[in-house]
Amino acid sequence: MNRLTNKQIILGVTGGIAAYKSAELVRGLQKAGAKVRVVMTSSACEFITPLTLQALSGNPVHIDLLDTKAEAAMGHIELARWADLVLIAPASASFISRLSRGSGEDLLSTLCLATDSQIALAPAMNQAMWRDSATQTNLEMLTEKGVKILGPDEGEQACGDVGLGRMLDVDQLLIEVREFFQSHELNGRHVMITAGPTREAIDPVRYISNESSGKMGFAMAEAAVDAGAKVTLVTGPVNLETPEHVERIDVISTADMHRAVFKNLPNCDIFIGSAAVADYRPTQVADRKIKKGDEDHAMTIELIRNPDIIAEVAASASRPFTVGFAAETHNLIEYAQKKLKQKNLDLIIANDVADKQIGFNSNDNEVTLISRKDSTVLPKMSKAKLARLLIDQLAQHYLSSKQEADV
Ligand code: PMT
Repeated sequence: MNRLTNKQIILGVTGGIAAYKSAELVRGLQKAGAKVRVVMTSSACEFITPLTLQALSGNPVHIDLLDTKAEAAMGHIELARWADLVLIAPASASFISRLSRGSGEDLLSTLCLATDSQIALAPAMNQAMWRDSATQTNLEMLTEKGVKILGPDEGEQACGDVGLGRMLDVDQLLIEVREFFQSHELNGRHVMITAGPTREAIDPVRYISNESSGKMGFAMAEAAVDAGAKVTLVTGPVNLETPEHVERIDVISTADMHRAVFKNLPNCDIFIGSAAVADYRPTQVADRKIKKGDEDHAMTIELIRNPDIIAEVAASASRPFTVGFAAETHNLIEYAQKKLKQKNLDLIIANDVADKQIGFNSNDNEVTLISRKDSTVLPKMSKAKLARLLIDQLAQHYLSSKQEADV
């Protein structure tokens, strides 16, 4: 089961005998579908060669903070932003101490200071070092800051001592990492998501469509699965792999999407409209390719309004919690708020599609999540990371709306 598909993990390796297990960990993470980049401290390089981890991860290993070549390829700030999770395994007592002091003496500790992502440590050290009050105080400080401590395990140690301090087994670490990406917030809920563009035929070989790639909707589907939901993804024509455990329904036109959505609406708890649905379709679809006449300098195609799928979902008798997206090139927040009310949505996620770095077809997005009461800006990040934050916020809104309804 590849439960880490598309997750971006930085594996930090520090100096300790357990560093040899990092090789197996890189393989295990990749086998589970994760993208892995390795950052080593200089003392880690005494225990395992960067070449081994480079060959296994398929990416250059980052070691020095002041390496201009490495910084030019992917600088430490970029690395810090790239990560969904920074996993430090093994984490030595010395590194734990540096991290608790917030020291940016080396690349790995600097990266930990710069990242907004979750940091997890798998301590590995001698049992006396583990029990030492300095280590325990450092770990308490890190736990308070939100760093997750994975292990350690108990047993025989490389130095011959027996006790707590061994790094968790690779299999156990993989379970913990998978667990990190599972929120369970939407356990037992059915989420339906629309994604991609719709295509409106003009004749057998031509159509009207838009630039949507489906990336945002597919990322939302993956994040909803990670949150424990049963997910139905109704998608227009896109070139993307189906996320694991997602029921995918392929459609072409708005009419197809409308049909698929209403067929699957019974028992749907949350509906998310991330598709860029064509607002209009040609009144007539020619059954043969339209030929241009010698004298024709212009041609007119009459369009008719398509049904508004999300507005109809929000107006349906068994109305699910309904979340829209608003793609705008100007007056973003004003237009999004208008759509929230006009379509009677619970939430709307506004994105600026005039900016080529975000929105349509890019890997990143920057959005404002708007409710009837307030709004939250989520800065530019990968669509995968953003989707996890959005699903988390959306689940909180959904669950509190349920609680209010139950009172
Ligand atoms: O697919 P990507 O390349 O990753 O790009 C993502 C995205 C920019 C397409 C996505 O983030 C996004 O903004 N999707 C909504 C695009 C859109 O059509 O917005 P809209 O403002 O026209 O529509 C508002 C809402 O009504 C949307 O939830 C839309 O799905 C829904 N709608 C619109 C028209 C229609 N006939 N039926 C609908 O359900």
